[in-house]
Amino acid sequence: MRINDSKLIAAIDALGVDHKVGVSLAQKTSLEIGGTSDILVIHRHETLPELVHLLKQEGVPHRFLGGGSNVLLPDGELPWVVLQLARQDPDVRFEGNNVYVDCAADLGRTVTTCAKHDLGGMEGLIGVPGSIGGALRMNAGAYGTQIGTYVREVKIFRAASGRIETLTGNEINFEYRHTSFAPDDIMLSVRLELLSKPYSEILQGIRICNEKRRASQPLNQKSAGCIFKNPPGGSAGRMIDELGLKGHSVGDARVSDRHANFFINAGHATSADMLALIADVRRRVREKYGVELEEEVIVWKAQ
Ligand code: EPU
Repeated sequence: MRINDSKLIAAIDALGVDHKVGVSLAQKTSLEIGGTSDILVIHRHETLPELVHLLKQEGVPHRFLGGGSNVLLPDGELPWVVLQLARQDPDVRFEGNNVYVDCAADLGRTVTTCAKHDLGGMEGLIGVPGSIGGALRMNAGAYGTQIGTYVREVKIFRAASGRIETLTGNEINFEYRHTSFAPDDIMLSVRLELLSKPYSEILQGIRICNEKRRASQPLNQKSAGCIFKNPPGGSAGRMIDELGLKGHSVGDARVSDRHANFFINAGHATSADMLALIADVRRRVREKYGVELEEEVIVWKAQ
């Protein structure tokens, strides 16, 4: 969606928010799928309430995009203006075992920065692509670790109230790939409490997780990680694999040969290709196993 109203453009500019016109969003996502839209890059969190107020007042639909590593965007001109947080420098600050992290920070880099300060616990998350904010919203997890365990305080922009609010860790429910945040809440910063551990020990844990991941996941291909959540007590990857669907494709959207719950953009896949592949695999799993798989990837749908 384009912002054309000159008064609105001037008001956005006055807030110090960058207005980027007609950006290709495929370049902003790990799947490299998505059409175009104007992007508003927010440098100071405090400007969000006023910015969102302006957009609402002018009837401009908007959505927030984090690191782009767990999302499937539509093709063509998007029906929303896209908001993104600018990276802060520095984006991590230490106080004893507490680490204050900006939500635009890269998750993997945060894990290694903390390791250098002899603070660990999140080693399992090392290869999970994306931002701290995205990890928080989804309660990202891998190899027995989930980020929610370490969350003590989160600052969010709460769309429902139009205000910036601070929640304590125990006010938030962290479940398997799900949290109690509202879909339109925007994660701004977080206080994590990590474990004191020697750097060498954390590094060893990081190496083990990296090796496991390299052995089982298609890391150098365009994907959004696992497409489906695991059903209770089951494994989406195993079921899809047992159905013989590795390499199965719709257009350039393909089930990975390495891990069947990773769907790859093998060339120039469109959103429509990927959605058709998701629907096809879901139907086959339902017919064979009687299990309704739920997407793990966040699909942006026009209402
Ligand atoms: N399996 C197969 N064929 C496959 C893939 C897996 O038979 O093609 C079998 C494996 O052999 C294993 C079982 O399925 O017995 C589970 O596989 P794996 O250990 O790879 O774990 P997963 O449940 O598929 C989960 C997370 C991953 C995370 C890994 C490691 C979900 C949906 N996936 O995968 O997270 O990296 O564990 O902890 O929870 C993601 O969130 O995007 C993601 C990739």
